[in-house]
Amino acid sequence: MIVFYNANIKTINLIYSVFRGFLGYFVKNKNMKTNILGLPVKETEIIISELNSLLSNYQVYYQNLRGIHWNIRGKRFFDLHVKFEELYNDSQLKIDMIAERVLTLGGTPLHTFEDYIKHNKIEVGKNISNDEKAVHLIVNSLSHLLILEREILNKTAVVNDEGSNAMMSDFIAEQEKTIWMMQAWLEE
Ligand SMILES: [Fe+2]
Repeated sequence: MIVFYNANIKTINLIYSVFRGFLGYFVKNKNMKTNILGLPVKETEIIISELNSLLSNYQVYYQNLRGIHWNIRGKRFFDLHVKFEELYNDSQLKIDMIAERVLTLGGTPLHTFEDYIKHNKIEVGKNISNDEKAVHLIVNSLSHLLILEREILNKTAVVNDEGSNAMMSDFIAEQEKTIWMMQAWLEE
């Protein structure tokens, strides 16, 4: 009985190995079509689309920062006015990096307000002059950007798109640190 049982297990393992072999073959063939960078075409199109979505959300974050830089009021005006400028300058650089990554991957970066609004999911801050509300807006905006970036991080890891992956990795680490600092500021 035990011999019969072992034999059955071996047969099942054999069938499973053959099945895995076939599956691997089909998956490999499905991904065979690669672009000039050696990245799979189909998956890269999805990554381009997600980078464009990130770009759109980033532009809204950037405008949020411009808004609070201009409208901030109160006793901490001078500190925050400068801090928000530092953040929007940094965002501007990142926006350019995302757009140029889209181009590097063979896509076209979105550049109209119409497209940005269509893809945006982050809170739009309007006429915010209160310092705490302004900092909350930054934390909320960054939290949402982190979700999009982690999604891109996962997808780019699967296809070894190291360029996009490393970019997301850097953005995530920096934004997590900014969230920590903003939350430390809110705890006074
Ligand atoms: Fe200014």
